[in-house]
Amino acid sequence: MDQNFVTRERDRMLKELVEFLAIPSISTLPNHAQDCRKAAGWLMDQFRRLGCAKVELLEGEGHPIVWAESPVIEGAPTVLVYGHYDVQPVDPINEWKTPPFEPTIRDGRLYARGAADDKGQVYCLVKAYEAILDQGKRPPINIRFLIEGEEECGGHVISDLLDREPERAQADAILICDMAYFDVGWPAVYTALRGLCYAELHVRTLERDLHSGTYGGAAPNAMETLVRLLADLKSRSGKINLPKLYKSVKKPSKAELKGWADLPFDEKRFLKEEVTGKALTGIQKVSVLERTWALPTFEIHGIKGGFVGDGAKTVIPAAAMAKVSLRLVPGLPFAKVARWLTKTAKRLAPKHAEVEVRILHGGDPVQVDVSHPSFQVLDEAFKETVGRGTVPVRAGGSIPVVTQFAKSGSPVILTGIGLPDDGLHSPNEKLDLQQLWDGITVFGRFFEKMGGK
Ligand code: BES
Ligand code: MN
Ligand code: MN
Repeated sequence: MDQNFVTRERDRMLKELVEFLAIPSISTLPNHAQDCRKAAGWLMDQFRRLGCAKVELLEGEGHPIVWAESPVIEGAPTVLVYGHYDVQPVDPINEWKTPPFEPTIRDGRLYARGAADDKGQVYCLVKAYEAILDQGKRPPINIRFLIEGEEECGGHVISDLLDREPERAQADAILICDMAYFDVGWPAVYTALRGLCYAELHVRTLERDLHSGTYGGAAPNAMETLVRLLADLKSRSGKINLPKLYKSVKKPSKAELKGWADLPFDEKRFLKEEVTGKALTGIQKVSVLERTWALPTFEIHGIKGGFVGDGAKTVIPAAAMAKVSLRLVPGLPFAKVARWLTKTAKRLAPKHAEVEVRILHGGDPVQVDVSHPSFQVLDEAFKETVGRGTVPVRAGGSIPVVTQFAKSGSPVILTGIGLPDDGLHSPNEKLDLQQLWDGITVFGRFFEKMGGK
């Protein structure tokens, strides 16, 4: 790999990435479906320009997948690169210093929705591939790209594809760059992802909204019923009140806990710089890393109902709804937790209310064994480029398709070039450009080393 590639091509690459990030490929909003297609098309152009032997748009019920293959070298090892071109919505839009789809550089950081999650990281891998082609002496390796457009919205296109064509996941390594370093200067490899159970809780107490003077004191309020239900589902101490939940959790091993205790983690800095709140919450006797990596969560994402317009309206709401989710850890499969949540919410419902639980989507937690030799290759590529190898950590977040990848038997390498303060899903998401430039070299070297160079 030409060591000057990054320096020489830097300006052009920035222009390209800015163009990619400017496409508002928000997968969960139906009015952005064309933008998702546009982002997919943008990637296909890149792959065609890089001489890929096969570049396909794989259609399903939702946003399409981009599939690309390097020209086949018989007998050479295969690396499958997975990523996603879709992004999260941008609200609250007023909190962005510069518009989310007008990528802007400040202090060596590129600010845009998708800069770190995951378009910037997908771009990094495409350029790593370009870098190893650069001098016309490509290493003996077959690289395939599988870039989906529904990771952020719980779509089924990719799981349907892999159910239909499981051979697509057969590889000597599956490389996923959709995560972050543990800390500045500390590249990471992930040994587990949490799963998810996302649901809506619907409460109805009346046929129609009522005057709160005439009926207040006697008529059941749906909003009040909903918030009491939510409060019953999770105690002030942080404990989630689903029977069997904590008993079912598979605890991390002693060795794993010891590894986490040795990581350079500063709770005060975490609170101040990343969480940006006044105090941390959750089960206090458990460490923060355990709480975010090895225990389930229950979060309320939003509540709808009643009157929230300007001014005042004296009304007793007849219906209310909350969007909630649980993060799942080993021992807690999605289907089981979905059943427990439904049952418990119905059991806790007072006589005066109808409670309905709609499960929107979810995925199982997953653990990956990082002892396969290809993890060593990644470790060496990082060591060579940034001076430190990978530390094993877990992720609090989820990537639903990884469960299917893990079942394929191919080693799944979860890593990333992001930093903990990138602000994924938040206003002012960013990517540090030095992380991108280093990343191109790291993954270029990874590809070469996988090919035995
Ligand atoms: N890249 C994230 C997952 C992630 C976040 C991994 C932080 C490691 C650390 C991914 O794009 C994501 O946000 N996933 C969603 C999945 C969900 C919508 C099914 C998540 O975790 O909320
Ligand atoms: Mn992501
Ligand atoms: Mn995400």
